[in-house]
Amino acid sequence: MSFVLVEKADRIAWVTLNRPEKLNALNNEVMKELEGVFASLEQDAEVGVVVVTGAGEKAFVAGADIAELKSLDTARARVQALRGQAVFQRIEAMPKPVIAAVNGFALGGGCELALACHIRIASENARFGLPEVSLGIIPGYGGTQRLPRLVGKGVALDMILSGEMTPAADALRMGLVSRVVPQADLKSAAEKLAKTLLSRGPLALRSALAAVNEGLEMPQDQGLLYEAAQFGLLAATQDMQEGMGAFLEKRTAAFKGL
Ligand code: COA
Repeated sequence: MSFVLVEKADRIAWVTLNRPEKLNALNNEVMKELEGVFASLEQDAEVGVVVVTGAGEKAFVAGADIAELKSLDTARARVQALRGQAVFQRIEAMPKPVIAAVNGFALGGGCELALACHIRIASENARFGLPEVSLGIIPGYGGTQRLPRLVGKGVALDMILSGEMTPAADALRMGLVSRVVPQADLKSAAEKLAKTLLSRGPLALRSALAAVNEGLEMPQDQGLLYEAAQFGLLAATQDMQEGMGAFLEKRTAAFKGL
């Protein structure tokens, strides 16, 4: 049985973490499959947007698998963290948009998985948290780095040090997610957003992702140079001619990714 299901339809790849009896907890096998799935989707020209979600009504992902974590020693724990970070880094570095459709608990590694995605939308019942300190550890798959970059140091330290869960409405207020919808509407909301992204220029999306992701790691003056370089590259594309031509001719653009 596969722990990570992939369904493709209309250029959207739906990636479902599928271990509902353990609230989709990330064991080593899940992480291995997740890495393989994203390596393949990155190369898949038929896929323009990826949506990540969790199987079942209750959880997106309730964290790394605590039963596996308990047996780690110092050396293996470090390797485990580096490996998890590398998988999520691959997701963040995807050249096409990745949407997290958070359908329930997003705790520990599940919250970190959502943080690695480019856009987070949540159902009203979703709950976010980094409860690692209550287990005597800290977030190890990027949470201490991505959360403060997303919501600011103060709010991030509140979540990381208290280990408390944050309901979807509060996550929206603090910028941890950008949209909240009723649970029954989550899939259609994710699909609608994915279709909007698919209607945009794919090379422009790739450049925008690179400019934001790379730029945030640079001083602003270097980030601005990087933005200008990406802007310049896009001026050489057929897609730019198509997008601007379509606007001036009052028609819908048909981007080819060229
Ligand atoms: N790792 C391993 N197993 C997990 C898990 C995790 N992170 N999260 C949930 N599970 C398992 C439970 O052990 C239980 O398994 P069982 O039925 O064989 O006993 C099953 O998933 C259902 O979880 P349960 O705790 O019974 O559901 P609940 O509704 O009472 O509570 C949570 C839901 C999310 C509050 C609770 O499961 C929880 O706190 N999970 C751990 C969250 C966490 O600390 N994550 C960070 C890990 S680093």
